[in-house]
Amino acid sequence: MAVSHDDDMAMAELEISSLPAETRCPPFLLRHYGGFWMPESYLPGVAAAHTRFKPRPSDVLLASFPKSGTTWLKALAFATLNRVKHPPRHPDHPLRRCNPHDCVKYLESGDRVDDDMFTALPSPRVLGTHIPYSLLPAGITAEDGSGGRIVYICRDPKDALVSTWFFVKKKLAAEASDGEPPKPYTIEEAFELFCEGRAIYGPQWHHVAGYWEASRRRPEMVLFLWYEDMLRDPAGNVRKLAEFMGCAFSGGEESAGVVEDIVEICSIDSLKNMEGNKTGSQRTFRNETFFRKGAAGDWSNHLTPAMAERLDKRSSRRRCEGQGSC
Ligand code: A3P
Repeated sequence: MAVSHDDDMAMAELEISSLPAETRCPPFLLRHYGGFWMPESYLPGVAAAHTRFKPRPSDVLLASFPKSGTTWLKALAFATLNRVKHPPRHPDHPLRRCNPHDCVKYLESGDRVDDDMFTALPSPRVLGTHIPYSLLPAGITAEDGSGGRIVYICRDPKDALVSTWFFVKKKLAAEASDGEPPKPYTIEEAFELFCEGRAIYGPQWHHVAGYWEASRRRPEMVLFLWYEDMLRDPAGNVRKLAEFMGCAFSGGEESAGVVEDIVEICSIDSLKNMEGNKTGSQRTFRNETFFRKGAAGDWSNHLTPAMAERLDKRSSRRRCEGQGSC
């Protein structure tokens, strides 16, 4: 779907309460907009990004479907871009004190998104987003590249679903008041809704397809990474990321082990144990809930083979990998 400045205007004038609603995907009320189920509470931030955000050619936007490795990608990109100012081994590295979501803010971080917040950031700026490609502000996806580069992280949808389910269950448990049990939320319910595309920023396969197609059309501006591939070869993917962001590692950095140091500080075991991630929160989500297993294939402990087959048929992942198109 092409994005134009008319879409920016339409987004700005959006009557959120008039959009179709989905109430069965806790913890958010979702609204259907532009073919996606968007959290209602984030739509003002999306609209603000359309009207107020001024992209720069040096910007790096880290995009993802939720629970696909966003936190990890934010940590890796932040540590890589800022490695001169903040050497990864330094005991006072920001990632040792702060959650990756504090180091890299979301483009759509609520209606607090304003020019000043992002204008004040020095270039190259790095931001995160869950906004589908077709709903990004037109300035960011400008064909001439003036809107900066995009890195997308894609994960097996079965693991993204299971990860979301655990995340939401923890949230519901935290919300339950004293003596009240958490609201029930079974994997079967979550699965059925996910297969219908009714998930936070779903359908997942359309989210993936938008960025996949953009990465095929504009490979110099949109880098498509696979979570599972990053688990297999984190150092190789960090090198790829650095090169794409225009800050490839020098021979000296390679021999000093800087790539391995970045991989280490951003590993799930390392981040999980940082003081800043054991406490604090992002909006209403506790920082610790962003780190669970960090593995590929955990879905097999929670979904039946029949469920897996159904979701595989629904998702575009196989087609992306196998045929070079979605
Ligand atoms: P699991 O719940 O399967 O363990 P997001 O960051 O998009 O919210 O995704 C969260 C998922 O990424 C969780 O998956 C989480 O454990 C995993 N994750 C978080 N940090 C990670 C890291 N440093 N390395 C690998 N996976 C990580």
